[in-house]
Amino acid sequence: MHARLATPNDAPAIARIYSQGIEERIATFETRPRTAADVLAWFDGRHPIVVVEDAGASIAFAATFSYSPRPCYDGIAEVSLYVERSARRRGAGRLAMTALLKAAEQAGFWKLLSRVFVDNTASLGMIRALGFREVGVYEKHGRLDGVWRDVVIVERLIPANL
Ligand SMILES: CC(C)(COP(=O)(O)OP(=O)(O)OC[C@H]1O[C@@H](n2cnc3c(N)ncnc32)[C@H](O)[C@@H]1OP(=O)(O)O)[C@@H](O)C(=O)NCCC(=O)NCCS
Repeated sequence: MHARLATPNDAPAIARIYSQGIEERIATFETRPRTAADVLAWFDGRHPIVVVEDAGASIAFAATFSYSPRPCYDGIAEVSLYVERSARRRGAGRLAMTALLKAAEQAGFWKLLSRVFVDNTASLGMIRALGFREVGVYEKHGRLDGVWRDVVIVERLIPANL
């Protein structure tokens, strides 16, 4: 198993893994499955994306996204992490996020942040294991399938860029 920077050729695999996570309803407010064309738009030349491969197949990705258009927040990125369902709890998530942190450091970011459903224990465990801090809870931040959900705000500083 190894991590590498993603290229546009990885868009179909990333879309497949992300759509699986969307379908599970445990990680995101998104409900529309994503296509490779959707994922291609993530490659903006600024925000790193990594994939983890195992035996030639992509089984996980971690991606950064714009946090804000305001120049003062240039060094902050939102982060997403998804591992194929059948490949979880084997270290792929940790590998992807560790590689993404390195790529984000090289790209000059000083902070990654995300919002995690309060009952997403796997994600909260992973986030803690990788040095993220729980900032607090947004109550009723959005509705998923009609139900209001709370999310934990998490952040990870990148000391080399502070
Ligand atoms: C969260 C997720 C990315 C973790 O990836 P993974 O490859 O299964 O995790 P790893 O095997 O690398 O585990 C790394 C650490 O995360 C924590 N962790 C992972 N799964 C966990 C679980 N089910 N319960 C509690 N802690 C968990 C542990 O601390 C683990 O370290 P350990 O195995 O030494 O105990 C994966 O479960 C997933 O894709 N979930 C659906 C999508 C999602 O929730 N994404 C995050 C959105 S914010």
